[in-house]
Amino acid sequence: MAQEVRGVIAPGKDEPVRVETIVVPDPGPGEAVVRVQACGVCHTDLHYKQGGISDDFPFLLGHEAAGVVESVGAGVTDVAPGDFVVLNWRAVCGNCRACLRGRPWYCFDTHNAKQKMTLTDGTELSPALGIGAFAEKTLVAAGQCTKVDPAVSPAVAGLLGCGVMAGLGAAINTGDVGRGDSVAVIGCGGVGDAAIAGATLAGAAKIIAVDIDDRKLAKARTLGATHTVNSKETDPVEAVRELTGGFGADVVIEAVGRPDTYQQAFYARDLAGTVVLVGVPTPEMKLELPLLDVFGRGGALKSSWYGDCLPSRDFPVLIDLHLQGRLPLDAFVTETVRLDEVEKAFERMHHGDVLRSVVVL
Ligand code: APR
Ligand code: ZN
Ligand code: ZN
Repeated sequence: MAQEVRGVIAPGKDEPVRVETIVVPDPGPGEAVVRVQACGVCHTDLHYKQGGISDDFPFLLGHEAAGVVESVGAGVTDVAPGDFVVLNWRAVCGNCRACLRGRPWYCFDTHNAKQKMTLTDGTELSPALGIGAFAEKTLVAAGQCTKVDPAVSPAVAGLLGCGVMAGLGAAINTGDVGRGDSVAVIGCGGVGDAAIAGATLAGAAKIIAVDIDDRKLAKARTLGATHTVNSKETDPVEAVRELTGGFGADVVIEAVGRPDTYQQAFYARDLAGTVVLVGVPTPEMKLELPLLDVFGRGGALKSSWYGDCLPSRDFPVLIDLHLQGRLPLDAFVTETVRLDEVEKAFERMHHGDVLRSVVVL
């Protein structure tokens, strides 16, 4: 039987979000209905509301979630009712060229639920990133559910569903930070701070946090930054070089998404270092570099897509590390809010004092 629950809808471009009754169908083949327990508020939800991602209004927002599987459809064997799961927005197919080459994070055929959730008048909803978890229950593809240790708090677990995984993975997976490495992280919001936590976990010897906001730099220190640079006051490229014996960092992670910070990342690395781009630029942004500098530097220039994570491999391990006290994921939950406070959480995002507001149901 389809069920009616409450969910947060973005009704139209730039209109305030609101709580509405939504209809969640029974799971079809390969699908699952999840009782959502917590869902973080991400910039991407705000971009959906602003019409910056697609015009398919109304959206059912929310995509950084954890909860309990309520029911599963035909053929689902990996998860079962009662399982505590973190949702992901890249359920990989296992069969495409990328998957078969062992790089499933580039999968061409990721999937979401085929059935649609609707408003009570039958209007179809577009779930944000194929999830839609600012809702008491949501319908997803079973492959979007990853079972993790239920001892963790749902608010913390859900963070792995997007921004925190992007940052952790930028350091651990894409950047492949190793023991003793020097790492610079440009931009210390939720994503950059998660990269710092990832670099700490990986055993980096020096972690240089760069931001234009001293409050962000203070927070970055609590997550493992050993040095901080306010790039409004000090040239960050010079500062990183100075702190690394004149060489530049082994791994530089860009977590802002601007041409000037991309450029800083390019020059702040060691000649054979790795630049990891995780900040998302806008379509009109361009980077201009002397070709001789591109040619003259070895190493690697990589972008990181959802932290190049493989949910089934990464989520359970990261939750276990957190439960062992080795990964302070709770530091990313600044506040918990109710379902009807998402609009308020969007406003707080702008003030820069929130890593994550998490809706707890
Ligand atoms: N130089 C250095 N830091 C900057 C600059 C700059 N020119 N401009 C902004 N920042 C800092 C901000 O002070 C803030 O601490 O970058 C940080 C951005 O953090 P958030 O706005 O919280 O964004 P976050 O969620 O961390 O995402 C960062 O990664 O995945 C992408 O889409 C995401 O592009 C976004 C980026
Ligand atoms: Zn695939
Ligand atoms: Zn997100």
